[in-house]
Amino acid sequence: MTAQPRVLSGIQPTADSFHIGNVLGALNQWADLQSQADCFYAVVDLHAITVAHDPAVLHQRTLTSYAQLLAVGLDSEKSTIFVQSQVPEHAQLQWVLGCITGMGEASRMTQFKDKSSKEGSGAASVGLFTYPILQAADILLYAADEVPVGEDQRQHLELSRDLAERFNTRFGQTFVVPKTRVIKGAAKILDLQDPTSKMSKSLPAGCVFLLDDPKVIAKKIKTAVTDSDMEIRYDLVNKPGVSNLLTILSAFSDLSVEECERELAGKGYGDLKGRTAEVVLAYAEQYSTRTREFLADRAELERIMLDGATKARAVAAPMLAKVYERLGFVHA
Ligand code: TYM
Repeated sequence: MTAQPRVLSGIQPTADSFHIGNVLGALNQWADLQSQADCFYAVVDLHAITVAHDPAVLHQRTLTSYAQLLAVGLDSEKSTIFVQSQVPEHAQLQWVLGCITGMGEASRMTQFKDKSSKEGSGAASVGLFTYPILQAADILLYAADEVPVGEDQRQHLELSRDLAERFNTRFGQTFVVPKTRVIKGAAKILDLQDPTSKMSKSLPAGCVFLLDDPKVIAKKIKTAVTDSDMEIRYDLVNKPGVSNLLTILSAFSDLSVEECERELAGKGYGDLKGRTAEVVLAYAEQYSTRTREFLADRAELERIMLDGATKARAVAAPMLAKVYERLGFVHA
């Protein structure tokens, strides 16, 4: 029997709810992979402090994020689901990887450029700058073969691969060079108000948060920007708004995009939005019920979390020890 591939991915606890881009681009893949891989999934709270934050809000969002991972179908018996700050090896490996990262290559990361320009010039933290190095540490610590993510993470994963190869070349074979795993179709869910940008929690008007009030969810979908044409047809270049709604409808209804087009042939954009709202609301209802159930038993939630951290450390600690040995550090 061949060993199962190792999978790792992470999500930031930086909103009160995950949005449909997170679920369709990443979390659905995470859940599906559980039957074919040895999976490690993290709520990456160390990443969440790279921009200004409120401690009480972060605390609550970390618990809610963890509960949402369970609500989308991650199973703590099958997968290792943990909170990043509870595994100190992440920050330790990040230091090491930071010492083999060039200033030039870190400066080329486009997410840093986008986020730091939003923070205002000079206001961005060093932590925001080194964010992708911490992400590389998350992945390399677990010898992950594959990293399931949305399209926006590709560049960060390239850096992880480069750092793994560089370390291996300089200090001997240590890390697995991870592959990016991007889902077909839903890797980039677009903003409902501006379908030329990806859906993002930083642009809440066009972002559907699954734990929001159903009325808010329905309104956002029904006021989605489409185009002046009348045809319901998938064409990402010329009709990004309509194509995005078809992608969302298809993903939440388990029908292919072609089947959705056929179902709506001859109908108007109001029908497309109505059907999309219907399937998203049905999903959101069970999603929020399950999330609330997991949050209601706080002691049990914290027990599962701690158990996840213990399982994660059992893998992370020996990897860090190997790295330290390769670097020439004297054994403690
Ligand atoms: P984060 O928290 O922004 O997003 C979590 C996951 O959701 C995906 N995603 C999307 N997919 C499709 N369409 C969208 N509009 C959309 N918006 C978000 C993201 O691609 C991601 O997969 N840097 C990471 C967190 C991280 C990580 C890691 C990921 C830290 N360490 C190690 C993988 C491996 C991030 O900010 O994701």
